[in-house]
Amino acid sequence: MRRLLPDPGPTTVEQQLDTYRPWEEPRGERPLIAVNFAATVDGRATIGGVSGPIGSGADTEMLAGLRTRFDAVMIGAGTMRAERYGRIIDDQGKRERRERIGLPHDPLMVIVSGRLDLPWDAPLFTGGGGRVLIFTASEAEPPPTATSLRIVRHRSSVNIVEAMRQLRQERGIRALLCEGGPGLHSELEGAGLVDDLFLTIAPKLVGGEAPRIIEGDLPGVTELELAWLLQEDSELFARYRRP
Ligand SMILES: NC(=O)c1ccc[n+]([C@@H]2O[C@H](COP(=O)([O-])OP(=O)(O)OC[C@H]3O[C@@H](n4cnc5c(N)ncnc54)[C@H](OP(=O)(O)O)[C@@H]3O)[C@@H](O)[C@H]2O)c1
Repeated sequence: MRRLLPDPGPTTVEQQLDTYRPWEEPRGERPLIAVNFAATVDGRATIGGVSGPIGSGADTEMLAGLRTRFDAVMIGAGTMRAERYGRIIDDQGKRERRERIGLPHDPLMVIVSGRLDLPWDAPLFTGGGGRVLIFTASEAEPPPTATSLRIVRHRSSVNIVEAMRQLRQERGIRALLCEGGPGLHSELEGAGLVDDLFLTIAPKLVGGEAPRIIEGDLPGVTELELAWLLQEDSELFARYRRP
């Protein structure tokens, strides 16, 4: 892997992320919030309805590396239904590395769901490792899960600003990584909550109806600045931030 910006030269995912310490920068009443997406050159965020075929092995390594740098990882219900997550860090060595840098063993897995219509047979719920917190507007009761599960209910829809405040104030979350999808990303951007955007640009064209990394209206144009740009073969790894 090469770093193109800043300071061009050889690097690795691990070296690059070693300098990234988001837990040291909570934003007052809320955590620092980063979002990670992989997209094709024509801006599509899925191939065949899922994200896996977009990026290369280096993209998977970047995602796995990012997961070791945050107190919490968050997804929307649409992503949970499409991707059927398991335990967010499935490698004991990586969990121990987190503890050595002062992070909890497992990140808190956060899901945002209006209807609580989730794939309860997915390994995230049946595996028994880690902790899951669901923000929902539904009054429905979830089935019993092997994994520790907590439900936080909001009225009519989840208030994302309040949810982020609750994570910081009541759960001590200092830094949160949102892995999508496009619906939840729109809400976070619309509320001005995204500090860092990690975007993998995969050298592929897909066309068709696949979603982009934001699906929904934004209140205006958001200007971003490029914090770093990495390259492996024809794939680019950008980190953008709000100036
Ligand atoms: N390329 C990538 O890096 C990437 C990353 C992630 C996902 N994806 C893809 O994106 C697709 C899913 O997109 P999506 O936009 O449907 O997913 P999403 O953003 O993960 O989920 C949308 C759902 O989240 C819930 N939600 C979000 N905000 C809410 C609020 N304020 N209050 C209540 N509920 C709220 C709603 O759940 P309910 O339906 O329960 O009401 C809504 O339907 C999948 O195909 C996935 O593979 C791609």
